[in-house]
Amino acid sequence: MMELPDWHSAWRAALYGPTGFFARGARPADHFRTSPLVGPELAEAVVELLDRVDRALDRPNPLDFVDVGAGGGELAAQVHALSGRFGGRLRVRAVELARPALPAGVEWSSELPDQVTGLVIAHEWLDSLPCRVVQVHGSRVVEVHVSADGTESLGDPVSSEWLDAWWPLSAEGQRAEIGSGRDAAWADLVARVAAGAALAVDYGHFAGARPFAGSLTGYRSGRQVAPVPDGSCDITAHVAFDAVAAAAGPCELLTQREALAALGTSVEPPAAGLAARDPLGWLAASARAGRVAELRDPAGLGGFHWLLCPRSAPIGLVRA
Ligand SMILES: C[S@@+](CC[C@H](N)C(=O)[O-])C[C@H]1O[C@@H](n2cnc3c(N)ncnc32)[C@H](O)[C@@H]1O
Repeated sequence: MMELPDWHSAWRAALYGPTGFFARGARPADHFRTSPLVGPELAEAVVELLDRVDRALDRPNPLDFVDVGAGGGELAAQVHALSGRFGGRLRVRAVELARPALPAGVEWSSELPDQVTGLVIAHEWLDSLPCRVVQVHGSRVVEVHVSADGTESLGDPVSSEWLDAWWPLSAEGQRAEIGSGRDAAWADLVARVAAGAALAVDYGHFAGARPFAGSLTGYRSGRQVAPVPDGSCDITAHVAFDAVAAAAGPCELLTQREALAALGTSVEPPAAGLAARDPLGWLAASARAGRVAELRDPAGLGGFHWLLCPRSAPIGLVRA
């Protein structure tokens, strides 16, 4: 009988193979909700951070903003729309496999940039990078294999320094996604920043609170679905953020809720009496307050993690 592929190979083919979910241009906005899709408030906070980077680098020309794994290009487009404060020096690039529809002035590439002077952001990029999946079976940790219809089988014993260091397994049935490839991808991206900072924003977990059965899942058309690697859905797993943070030198790690507060994004309910004086102004202020509340919700997007790794200059969220 032919052996099934391991999860890493199946996941990679399902998302990035010739007929893969993302390779053929699936738009994240059609399948799941991310912070840039909530409204312009995330971009406003990112531009505030970009301004700190700009000042720390003494206003370089050009100043780069690079959005890696840009999806439909929403964040890049919104940052571009707010670029006036940089006096024509801001160069905005969206890095995505299939070219999204972008406004004039936003560059596109399918390749990671060689060198960045400014800010590179990986917003929900790391969670989309495939991992091996392993499981405790008997007294051993073994590879999990999977077919394109989602049928799994258990394979050979696995030994992994990454697992020993970051996600040791012992209980029968316990599972992990091995994050060494993500750590390497993040270290590589940070190293491409000649001056400035790299920011990863994603959902994740930490040692001591890893999910017992792992976190592998799928999304299709706005719904969470079984992660079947047939190219019909996004496949994702939470990021082991402590491991990623350790891969790239001294970095700052906050929740999104904390990071937004540090960048001055707060919920301001509409002023008393505004609804009577200016109903449209009240509607706009209420809608904004709702969007910011969604971005800050500790049980939702506000619980995401922001990992900021400065390069060559002291740049911080809390430590601005
Ligand atoms: C989960 S989506 C996030 C989209 C967007 N950043 C957002 O938050 O709405 C991950 C995106 O990363 C892209 N991606 C993954 N690996 C990539 C690579 N090596 N180069 C460019 N894009 C990549 C995928 O095609 C997908 O659109």
